[in-house]
Amino acid sequence: MSNKVYIETYGCQMNLADTEVVMGILKSKGYELTKKIDAADVVFVNTCSVRDNAEQRIHGRLGNIGTLKQKNPNLVIGVLGCMAERLRDELITKKKMVDIVVGPDEYRKLPELINNAVAGEKGIGVKLSRTETYEDIEPYREEGLAAWISVMRGCDKFCTYCVVPFTRGRERSSKLESVVEEVKRLSERGFREVTLLGQNVNSYSDGENDFSDLLEACAKVDNKLRIRFMTSHPQDLSDKLLHTISEYSNICNYIHLPVQAGSDRVLKEMNRTYTIEHYLGIIERARKIIKGVTFSTDIISGFPTETEEEHKMTLDVMAKVRYDGAFMFKYSPREGTRAFKMEDDIPEDVKSRRLTEIIDQQLQIAYEINQKLIGTEDVVLIESLSKKSDQFYSGRTDTNKIVILPIGNNVEIGDLVKVKIHKGTSATLFGDFVEIVDAYKR
Ligand code: 5AD
Ligand code: SF4
Repeated sequence: MSNKVYIETYGCQMNLADTEVVMGILKSKGYELTKKIDAADVVFVNTCSVRDNAEQRIHGRLGNIGTLKQKNPNLVIGVLGCMAERLRDELITKKKMVDIVVGPDEYRKLPELINNAVAGEKGIGVKLSRTETYEDIEPYREEGLAAWISVMRGCDKFCTYCVVPFTRGRERSSKLESVVEEVKRLSERGFREVTLLGQNVNSYSDGENDFSDLLEACAKVDNKLRIRFMTSHPQDLSDKLLHTISEYSNICNYIHLPVQAGSDRVLKEMNRTYTIEHYLGIIERARKIIKGVTFSTDIISGFPTETEEEHKMTLDVMAKVRYDGAFMFKYSPREGTRAFKMEDDIPEDVKSRRLTEIIDQQLQIAYEINQKLIGTEDVVLIESLSKKSDQFYSGRTDTNKIVILPIGNNVEIGDLVKVKIHKGTSATLFGDFVEIVDAYKR
């Protein structure tokens, strides 16, 4: 039987969570996951369409993967995720090596489509669903410390630049009970952190519960299990949610709250449905209600018609909020979206220059924020050895800051450790050991 599956995942955390759902579905049919592409009978690429450069990279990668068929003509190659949804049969007709194309709502069909592909028949499954949440599927997760749970799928916001409502369909939420059950299982398996995922978690609703209810129910499962969530849309972020975050010590004091742009006119063109005044109001209330809360954001530079003055307004709002982190992008036109019909009128060099100004300012602000943390103490979940040196651990604070700590003092991966910060860059803090707050599994 051809039963070894290799999956490569691109894009957002939602895709990482979907890859685990796909493996959950395939495992129940006897498939095994392999980390070696050369040993695989089936190779899947779970793809992202959010910007053109993501798609171009994946096209290149698919070309490489296609050459594996020369060695193994029976290899089944599948494209999953947003590119599958967007490009559909074009992927099969233009790329001869692709056997299967499956969008985010049809993963239950994969076992059948693999069987057909083995028998020589290509197949696609790209219907979007109003109800599919995969809540009855247990995602396949290796042992680890941090897990994702997708609590809602799709997006109804239709920001004019964004392809997600077209590739992932309408909003729908998993039942609170099914999410809480999953959190329980993860806690029993020794996970230390769970991130609740959705394109717009604040509009979570299972008919009876809103997102604050869900967050509270998850936090109550195990008061040592850290709960994170993303992404929040400023329109739907309620004070009730802010109070819930502040009430439970294991709900992390960190909010990813994309602002996208600093001018109300551009926000309106983007269909972002809030003003900067409203946005800054949330930040202010959050800082009052949640002690020490940190924020990150997403920014798009060079949206059609953005003037130099409006670009400065983006810099201005970033300087006002002083984000701890930011994901910053050049606008990329996506076919099918409303903004695609607008002329992409900001020249490439202007977009690049504006983006550089945004990034430079953000790095400076993050650096200043981190300098102020020198001398303070915080609790860090030790996640792994540092990428740069096996003499150091890497961990994260509740506020999502990366902290590097020398190995020693009986600290092990998975421990919660109090550290004292002695140095900071714009992206990383460096700490000294103070004490072990909670040892992991010992
Ligand atoms: N161009 C550039 N950035 C985009 N994003 C979404 N669509 C586009 C696009 N067409 C960014 C937004 C969003 C993040 C996930 O990706 O900032 O919040
Ligand atoms: Fe895209 Fe806007 Fe939905 Fe985010 S909220 S996924 S940017 S449409």
